[in-house]
Amino acid sequence: MKQDVALDQAKWLVEPGCVLLVTGGTMDKANVMTVSWQTPIHTANPCMVLLVMNQRRYTYELIKQNNELVINVPDESLLEQTHFVGTVSGRNADKFKAAGLTPTPASVVKCPLIAECAGHLECRITNTFTIGTHDLVLCQVIHASAEEEYFDGAWIAERFHTLHYMQATQYGVLDRRITVGPQ
Ligand SMILES: Cc1cc2nc3c(=O)[nH]c(=O)nc-3n(C[C@H](O)[C@H](O)[C@H](O)COP(=O)(O)O)c2cc1C
Repeated sequence: MKQDVALDQAKWLVEPGCVLLVTGGTMDKANVMTVSWQTPIHTANPCMVLLVMNQRRYTYELIKQNNELVINVPDESLLEQTHFVGTVSGRNADKFKAAGLTPTPASVVKCPLIAECAGHLECRITNTFTIGTHDLVLCQVIHASAEEEYFDGAWIAERFHTLHYMQATQYGVLDRRITVGPQ
């Protein structure tokens, strides 16, 4: 069961710089792409995440129609799907179907979230800044949810192995949480 995550904790869903699946559009017409250029930039009031998107991405075109998107967090079990939706465009194909990912209504925004992912940040775009071929897309998180089995205020890395892009066809996985300082 997924539980709501307080917005002042939501940034911990993406804090480790994990690879993300970003969805845009509506339940009738949606698309998904892989994003690794991401960073939280403000913890709370508001919680903000910055994404970097090439202006040619079809997903970004759909996102701009209503300025909403969902950031979904996949794990190691979705490696093939994550790479696939990051290397094929959905302009002429249904990538959800091809990848076996299930679009599901989100809580607040119009675009779907991905049922197979364990964490979701529902966002509204507040600003964009163009740098050549890419836009810096400033997203305000307006709702967040995560699988309670895998997230207790931070990802339980032993159970949920986030993906981290290394290069080309190589990814790393985060599978251990360690503690620093006196216990
Ligand atoms: C691991 C990985 C990370 C990626 N990160 C980004 C990114 O941060 N920004 C971006 O614009 N494209 C990124 N891409 C490329 C897009 O996901 C890719 O071009 C995708 O096919 C776009 O699909 P669309 O045209 O259906 O939107 C990444 C691809 C991979 C495989």
